[in-house]
Amino acid sequence: MIPNVLELAKTFIVGALPPGGVAVDGTVGNGYDTVFLAEQVGAEGRVYGFDIQDEALERTRSLLEAMELTERVTLVHASHALLTDFLPPDVTFHAGMFNLGYLPHGDKTIITQRESTLTALDQTFARLVKGGVLTIVIYPGHEGGNDEAEAVVAWAKNFPPEQAKVVWYQPLNSRRPAPSLVALQKRGQSVV
Ligand SMILES: C[S@@+](CC[C@H](N)C(=O)[O-])C[C@H]1O[C@@H](n2cnc3c(N)ncnc32)[C@H](O)[C@@H]1O
Repeated sequence: MIPNVLELAKTFIVGALPPGGVAVDGTVGNGYDTVFLAEQVGAEGRVYGFDIQDEALERTRSLLEAMELTERVTLVHASHALLTDFLPPDVTFHAGMFNLGYLPHGDKTIITQRESTLTALDQTFARLVKGGVLTIVIYPGHEGGNDEAEAVVAWAKNFPPEQAKVVWYQPLNSRRPAPSLVALQKRGQSVV
């Protein structure tokens, strides 16, 4: 089976995120990725989730409560670009997930922005453990999305190969601008 971008992102994450591990969801949105990460880390692990919208955090809080996962998740109402300001320096990640763009079923004018996204990706990569994985689903379809998607791809392409294995996965024959996946794995001994 050829997975879609989100399925492949999750496969990469599963390979790097052990029970008891730590993950960051850089774009909490409706909370589906946060729930996935919380299930992966188990009761002993921790997930940090960032979003700038109250609406997204409220939806995610409700979902986590319904699934009894609240205890293992810290939700932060702030831009992912401020990750370093909000998390103590000793917090490192086995995995980071970014799903860019706008909140589905929300305000489509509030979108992730190229500069803050790149800042957040740098900060997240810096805190990855060796073998840790960072996945970024990029959307070229909305206004501003293509600009951001190109910037993320350029950022990833220029990554020093001795620091990370970097891949880009995308549909080739889509009729519309389709999401694609950029993924990085920090070089070093794998943790799982
Ligand atoms: C495509 S949605 C994320 C989907 C989500 N991961 C899920 O599972 O439902 C993108 C989210 O990024 C959020 N966002 C936009 N700019 C942000 C920023 N600077 N920092 C953190 N989140 C941001 C939006 O508010 C939106 O909720």
